[in-house]
Amino acid sequence: MGKGFYISKPLGFVLFGLGVGAVLTIFALSVVYSQEKRKNEVNARDGTRMVTTAAPHSTSAPSNEPWDKYRLPDTLLPAYYNVTLWPRLVPDEQGMYIFTGKSGVALTCVKETNLIIIHSNELNFTLTSEMHHAKLAGLGGTSAPVILKTWFQIQTQFMVILLKDNLQVGKSYWLYMEFRGELSDDLGGFYRSQYTENGVKKVVATTQMQPTAARNAFPCFDEPSMKAVFHLTLLHPPGTVALANGMELDDQEVLQTRFEPTEKMSTYLLAFISNQKPNGDYALSVTFPILKYLENYYNTTYPLSKSDQVALPDFAAGAMENWGLVTYREQSLFYDPKVSSNEDKEWVVTVITHELAHMWFGNLVTMRWWNDLWLNEGFASYVSYLGADYAEPTWNIKDLMVLQQVQRAFGVDALVSSHPLSSREDEVITPDQIDQLFDTITYSKGAAVLRMLSEFLTDLRYYDVFTRLVVDADSSIQLPASINEIMNRWILQMGFPVVTINTRTGIISQQHFLIHPDAVVDKPSDYNYEWFVPITWMKSGSNMGQHWLLTKTASYEPMKTDTDWLLANLNVTGYYRVNYDPQNWERLLTQLTNLNMIIHRAQIINITLALRTTKYLYEEKEYIPWESAIRNFEYFFLMFDRTEVYGPLQTYLQRKVKPLFDHFKVITSNWTRKPPRYMDQYNQINAVSMACKTGVKGCSELTRMWYRQWMKNPDSNPIPTNLKITVYCNAIAAGGVEEWDFGWQMFKNSTIAAEAEKLLYGLSCTKEPWLLNRYLEFTIEPNLVRKQDVAFAIVYISGNVIGQPLVWDFVRANWEHLTKDYDDGSFFFGRLIRGITRKFSTEFDLQQLQRFKEDIAASSFSFGTQAIEQAIEQTKANIKWVSENKVQVMNWLIEQSA
Ligand SMILES: *[C@@H]1O[C@H](CO)[C@@H](O)[C@H](O)[C@H]1NC(C)=O
Ligand SMILES: *[C@@H]1O[C@H](CO)[C@@H](O)[C@H](O)[C@H]1NC(C)=O
Ligand SMILES: *[C@@H]1O[C@H](CO)[C@@H](O)[C@H](O)[C@H]1NC(C)=O
Ligand SMILES: *[C@@H]1O[C@H](CO)[C@@H](O)[C@H](O)[C@H]1NC(C)=O
Ligand SMILES: *[C@@H]1O[C@H](CO)[C@@H](O)[C@H](O)[C@H]1NC(C)=O
Ligand SMILES: *[C@@H]1O[C@H](CO)[C@@H](O)[C@H](O)[C@H]1NC(C)=O
Ligand SMILES: *[C@@H]1O[C@H](CO)[C@@H](O)[C@H](O)[C@H]1NC(C)=O
Repeated sequence: MGKGFYISKPLGFVLFGLGVGAVLTIFALSVVYSQEKRKNEVNARDGTRMVTTAAPHSTSAPSNEPWDKYRLPDTLLPAYYNVTLWPRLVPDEQGMYIFTGKSGVALTCVKETNLIIIHSNELNFTLTSEMHHAKLAGLGGTSAPVILKTWFQIQTQFMVILLKDNLQVGKSYWLYMEFRGELSDDLGGFYRSQYTENGVKKVVATTQMQPTAARNAFPCFDEPSMKAVFHLTLLHPPGTVALANGMELDDQEVLQTRFEPTEKMSTYLLAFISNQKPNGDYALSVTFPILKYLENYYNTTYPLSKSDQVALPDFAAGAMENWGLVTYREQSLFYDPKVSSNEDKEWVVTVITHELAHMWFGNLVTMRWWNDLWLNEGFASYVSYLGADYAEPTWNIKDLMVLQQVQRAFGVDALVSSHPLSSREDEVITPDQIDQLFDTITYSKGAAVLRMLSEFLTDLRYYDVFTRLVVDADSSIQLPASINEIMNRWILQMGFPVVTINTRTGIISQQHFLIHPDAVVDKPSDYNYEWFVPITWMKSGSNMGQHWLLTKTASYEPMKTDTDWLLANLNVTGYYRVNYDPQNWERLLTQLTNLNMIIHRAQIINITLALRTTKYLYEEKEYIPWESAIRNFEYFFLMFDRTEVYGPLQTYLQRKVKPLFDHFKVITSNWTRKPPRYMDQYNQINAVSMACKTGVKGCSELTRMWYRQWMKNPDSNPIPTNLKITVYCNAIAAGGVEEWDFGWQMFKNSTIAAEAEKLLYGLSCTKEPWLLNRYLEFTIEPNLVRKQDVAFAIVYISGNVIGQPLVWDFVRANWEHLTKDYDDGSFFFGRLIRGITRKFSTEFDLQQLQRFKEDIAASSFSFGTQAIEQAIEQTKANIKWVSENKVQVMNWLIEQSA
């Protein structure tokens, strides 16, 4: 699925033929990719099977019966499905939206068995005349055994069919079923989305199958390696449009659209939509060039006959790479230059590239099982920057990877409750476990580690074709160990090292970096939490080199220096942090303003040093240093905004940001024009938001003036699109109920998702507790705020210093309601829990959080447990950090203003 903070889920590729799923590397993948491609070709011609099923695994289920295990047995393989679905776009007499379906699957027996076990969840089946839930027939002249009994295993989500005699190896059978299901608004499986057009309510029936919801739409072998061909037919009202993975074949009968058979593919990539909204122009204009770019990158033509991009008003993830029919959250696809900001545009282009990258890597070649999801999502996240850079070459978008992926991954991966990129296959079994994999580690660490790989294989034209990687790596690149040996250390153990370089002695050492240094690492690692670290370095701005650190400690003459400064991990291409001896730090600090490679400033780890690096900010105009400084200060605000440090922090930052604010005032001719450089357009947002946040004179006046003008004339919004988000926030914070109500009206009236989202945020900035409480109540009214947006809204409110305690009480008071109605996998709860505990930094906070964890453990609800674990650890780290640094920071800040 898509990425970023709307982290969407899916991607995948089935890595066939690889015995040890967990030890995959790109290296292995490249070989597999080419083999698989060949197999696909062969397969298309001779129809032989290409998927080898995984062996079943033991699970926590109580018995040893095959239907109590979560993994399918290895006895049967699907070849193709014929599925007809009929979603009703109006409610039935009971007020329920439903769909009905008929589905047949041709299956081949590969091991003798008298059981058919197929996924099915929340579907009701029609009984046959023999009172069974399915019919079985032989194909190709085979006769089928009689069905003795059919039943459902709710927990493992199976339909089980017990036969009188065994199915015969090598023979094929046709299993046929009729069923009905609810077309609910739960954002998963076959679900409904709603919008209003010209005052008329429209209903869209759409799908989100990844990872395990295809079974909620029709009975199927719902594992990624169980690839098959799908013949889909949708019944839908006249005047509406139906789409699916394949091209439509005919729809003379108005009500029925048949689609061409799909490629042989995984169930989780299926999609069908009835009654969809139109596409975006910007998206259309970039899609074609990106597809061309990717064809070149993979050296493989686009595998399908069409590529639809469809936006949906209700969508849990950012986007989903269904093969040939990519679905998006509206913000991820629509860009309107009159309303949307640069950030919106960047989001659109990177999400599109991410999803299109999956059309090959993920869809054509698919992971065998979910434990290798990281390769799929990490790769697409990484490639999305390359493709976006191609589509928008002037943006320098690749530079943002450090801030958006590497730093983000560091945040989570410095916890002992983090996890390795790749898990063992038998550690990821249940739908909950699979859902939890769609997290920051999978996406951002995946991207960061692949970026490092592509950097140290310097000559690698990794994008030409996967096979080239093998050739290049073997012939021309000097590596200290095989790619497997190097990569396993990054893939199979969690965390990352901090590398300490003593430039006086030339001694370098590595250590597992933990945000809470006393935390106990209780997960053993085969590699002892040591890594093979590629260290690029530069001495005094000219002399450059690269070394490998393969042990805990080593000594390197070239890094020894008495007078020069030494900088390591250039451009932060390595997935690790660096510390130096104090002398080198001092010398580096004097260089900071001169160093051209601004990204480096993002990796300093010593608090006092970090603070000192910000002293020069009053003369800094560039985006990346400002952005990384602000992100670091954000932590200060989270920890200190209710303490006595807040005042001195405001004063300090106000002085730093004022010159930037004034600079933008000048280059925008008193805020009437856009800054010409793209990165300046981003930095202007920082200038205004920091200026308002710290009370720079003129800022609040500016935002209030714009907002008032808009209130006077709601049809014409005078606020520069890039600044909307900060202007809404500041004007609503400075205003009262009138400003808030206007914003709320505009939110409800907004037909553009990107605009609505900005207002959703702006509304959280009010300083009135009663408005915040009312807003919280509004968020769980489905008619007021879409389910897809609720977690965001609640987290926004908790970012407000006044809103934070209100949210914490609210979430606990409404927990049952939230778990019942908002459970869309761990997205929702992970996002919510992480967001609302960000400010937690006292023993009292910690106790409350631990009690909350116990309460949840006592209920049957299991989502979000990983997020709670991480929140507890983060809270402990915060407590420690505050106790160690608060006084130091406070004194330092006061000294500065003396
Ligand atoms: C499945 O559908 C295809 C395409 O419509 C058709 O050719 C085939 O006969 C169907 N298979 C069965 C077993 O009904
Ligand atoms: C399926 O059956 C259950 C139990 O009878 C019922 O509550 C549910 O509403 C049915 N679902 C549909 C979509 O008909
Ligand atoms: C791309 O593929 C073609 C044919 O498969 C091959 O001849 C060519 O060398 C490949 N190009 C690159 C750059 O790998
Ligand atoms: C670092 O990034 C800059 C800007 O993208 C690039 O020009 C430079 O070559 C990179 N340096 C290294 C050592 O990778
Ligand atoms: C951070 O830097 C300060 C000043 O150079 C020094 O006193 C302190 O020991 C350093 N802390 C760490 C953890 O390196
Ligand atoms: C800038 O714009 C504001 C509001 O339109 C106006 O009051 C002010 O005089 C302008 N300042 C200058 C220097 O033009
Ligand atoms: C919102 O839309 C309604 C109906 O379309 C309209 O009556 C109302 O004036 C709009 N409100 C604002 C503030 O534009």
